[in-house]
Amino acid sequence: MLDYEDIIQVHIELSSYCNSSCPSCPRNIDGGITDPELIPNSLSLDDVKKILSVDLLKQLKNINFCGNYGDPIMCKDMIEIVQYINEHNNTVKLAIHTNGGARNLAFWSDLGRVISTMPNAHVVFGIDGLEDTNHLYRIGVNWQKLMSNVKAYISAGGLALWDFLVFSHNEHQVEQAKALSETLGFSRFIEVSPHGFKYNGKMRVVDRQGKFLHFLEQSNIKTRPVDVKMLFDKVDFDLTVEDIKQTHNNIRKSVRDAGHFNYQNQRDRFAAMDSIEIQNCMSVRFSEIYIDSNGGIHPCCFLGHINQDSSPIPELEWHKHWIETTIGIENINSLNKPIKEIMDSYFPLIKESWTKTFAQGRNPMCALKCGIQRPMGHIRS
Ligand SMILES: C[S@@+](CC[C@H](N)C(=O)[O-])C[C@H]1O[C@@H](n2cnc3c(N)ncnc32)[C@H](O)[C@@H]1O
Ligand code: SF4
Ligand code: SF4
Repeated sequence: MLDYEDIIQVHIELSSYCNSSCPSCPRNIDGGITDPELIPNSLSLDDVKKILSVDLLKQLKNINFCGNYGDPIMCKDMIEIVQYINEHNNTVKLAIHTNGGARNLAFWSDLGRVISTMPNAHVVFGIDGLEDTNHLYRIGVNWQKLMSNVKAYISAGGLALWDFLVFSHNEHQVEQAKALSETLGFSRFIEVSPHGFKYNGKMRVVDRQGKFLHFLEQSNIKTRPVDVKMLFDKVDFDLTVEDIKQTHNNIRKSVRDAGHFNYQNQRDRFAAMDSIEIQNCMSVRFSEIYIDSNGGIHPCCFLGHINQDSSPIPELEWHKHWIETTIGIENINSLNKPIKEIMDSYFPLIKESWTKTFAQGRNPMCALKCGIQRPMGHIRS
């Protein structure tokens, strides 16, 4: 698999805090309640200096500040971290993914100024509509504040890209948003087909008390296969924190039983993936590692989900249990151990698992995400 000396791309979750609650983001339940088991954290400048040594920084071609559970802009030391990268690798291709709604104008001007000195750096703003629609997915993002932040950043010289998730409620605004992006000075506008329509093909939205509000629906123009399908007789139900904890416990119990795998419940489903050939490993294809907001090292963002107990899915529970019982969670943390040591002890075991059956120890998450029967990644226009 990937060796330390060959890493050219690093995906980092600088923070698992967020100012928004998008309905299909794993940090919250259907846009309302923050996952009760999420323990957010941000990396500090000192953490980043420890994790990304000057030597490693110099060998990198791409750095992606994105993550699974948060918004990088919520990281307190964001500007200093970008300055540290700039100091040691000015030409690295740096991408910062954000909803753009947090922090003040001084922050955005400062960020724009640093980014303007880096020839290949940019911010990708996730803006899914206009004033009357963006907040339907980017719940909690205030349009006026977002626009002021964007203007402060661009006028300070920062390169800005706009990613637009197309739903049925905003598909009629794509051309208008594209025109606005040009007026504001964005360098690129792209339409992205969202995932997460898991309630009979719809996305459910609840409020902060768990009360069902409405559904978001797929665009009629831009559709993608429904990747995770949950079929319920009734989908417009309210939720409580207790319901959420119960669901989490049920999933955990179905995979683990007093510290051992309870194969009874999951074996057939996992074993059904034995015939899937794993050949799309993102870590191998992009020479990439993923670093979570606690400093954990993973081959990819898919496996990086285990840094939180929230939103468990059986394949991830399997992986988390496997890490705990083989290597140890603390032994994949780059704040405790050098990345090279972590990779040498961890990554070859993942690769070995690809040619096994589930009964022999195949990692079911690798088959789910990177098997040849399943295309992966965003479908972009
Ligand atoms: C979890 S977010 C973290 C970064 C940042 N908070 C943001 O939203 O841009 C990771 C990426 O997922 C994208 N995203 C969020 N919801 C999505 C969805 N339903 N379908 C596809 N991409 C989505 C975001 O736009 C972002 O590029
Ligand atoms: S802005 Fe990003 S991290 Fe925050 S809730 Fe939305 S998708 Fe998740
Ligand atoms: S899920 Fe497995 S196969 Fe896919 S990118 Fe991650 S490590 Fe590679």
